[in-house]
Amino acid sequence: MGVPQPAFYIFKCEQSAPPGMPKPSCVNADTQDLFQHLAQTLMQKGIMGTVQPIRSSCMFRCNVGPVMLVEPGHVMYSSLTKEKITEIVEKHIIGGEVVKEYVIPEELWDAPITPADMMKQMGL
Ligand code: FES
Repeated sequence: MGVPQPAFYIFKCEQSAPPGMPKPSCVNADTQDLFQHLAQTLMQKGIMGTVQPIRSSCMFRCNVGPVMLVEPGHVMYSSLTKEKITEIVEKHIIGGEVVKEYVIPEELWDAPITPADMMKQMGL
């Protein structure tokens, strides 16, 4: 029997804008410990390993940050706080129910375009 693959990957955006930059970003003085909170929550629940947190760069939804993406499922959570992350771990990752009230608005996260369809759109 091989080493089991993770059941979930959680990509937490860890991008911060340089000081003075007007563009919003997912990491600032108020939100810099959210990744650590996510990792600690997974460890406290005993599920680190089967749930793998990943520090990611910008996922281009900065205006509704902090964001994180749960895979599988393409579920993007936005406007995160420590309390929301704890709830997402308990209800979605452990309980299997997406926490709909924290999911990014659909107009910002519509259905994906397949690479083949994108190539067709571009005439390639
Ligand atoms: Fe996080 Fe852009 S900085 S989505």
